[in-house]
Amino acid sequence: MELKRIFILYFSPTGGTRRVARILLDAARKSGAFLEEADLTPPEAREAPLEFEAGDLVFWAAPSYGGRLPKPFHDYRGFAGRSAWGVPVAVYGNRHFDDQLAEMQDVMEACGFTVPAGAAFIARHNQHPLLGAGRPDAEDRKAAESFVGLVIEKIRAADAHDDLRVALPGHRPYKPYGKVAAAPEVVHPEKCHHCGECAESCPMGIIDPITMKVTDAGQCIGCRGCIEACHYGARHFPDAVAAAIAAKLETIYQANAERKAPTICL
Ligand SMILES: Cc1cc2nc3c(=O)[nH]c(=O)nc-3n(C[C@H](O)[C@H](O)[C@H](O)COP(=O)(O)O)c2cc1C
Repeated sequence: MELKRIFILYFSPTGGTRRVARILLDAARKSGAFLEEADLTPPEAREAPLEFEAGDLVFWAAPSYGGRLPKPFHDYRGFAGRSAWGVPVAVYGNRHFDDQLAEMQDVMEACGFTVPAGAAFIARHNQHPLLGAGRPDAEDRKAAESFVGLVIEKIRAADAHDDLRVALPGHRPYKPYGKVAAAPEVVHPEKCHHCGECAESCPMGIIDPITMKVTDAGQCIGCRGCIEACHYGARHFPDAVAAAIAAKLETIYQANAERKAPTICL
């Protein structure tokens, strides 16, 4: 079947998912198809519907949060898939992606895509310095390049009657989504330069760019985008919450120190 255009969409508050997405983008260049990327991290990028058509191939990469899609994509219906091919890509920090691929497949199918493939890749865990450190690396790049090549081959080799759908792994109902104990705040006011980078980086648009305060803590997804965007180390979770996260992540690291390989579903 003919492949008209390839899109790489990603949501990436701290850049790990974007690194994987860019590898997919590089690999897709070899196809000769028209290529486009879109960053769905800023809230305004998710406001207008994204429209596709039959013959498009759309890779959608999102990070794992507790083995689930990040909250802004629960029940997301902002893609007009119109029988385009949709390929979910989970990016996780070397623990697991649990039900995320099944959840992404459900969102894509509800938006009108056919899902012929999916994958999970590993990136640096943004809550622990050693989990997934240095990922994605050269081996991941090779796996991602091969994955993109195989997806394109699968579509081009098929004819209109072939059913290319795969069932991606995961349980339904999905595992419960974790609660965020508290939103990050300016824990070192003396270091804050009022530059507004934290507000600019927030994928939920809930940081006031004048006061740097979170306006609706209940909406915070705990992505750490604002913490990493701060050049001055002024922002973090409140001490007790930061300590609880560090302790939990140390236990997760002890159980997941070994390198995990990408998961490819075709
Ligand atoms: C709230 C939260 C929950 C996370 N849950 C998981 C998880 O369940 N499994 C895992 O392996 N990594 C988990 N991670 C790590 C991220 O999936 C990983 O760091 C990812 O690369 C972050 O994407 P980004 O850099 O594009 O923002 C979690 C990170 C955050 C902030």
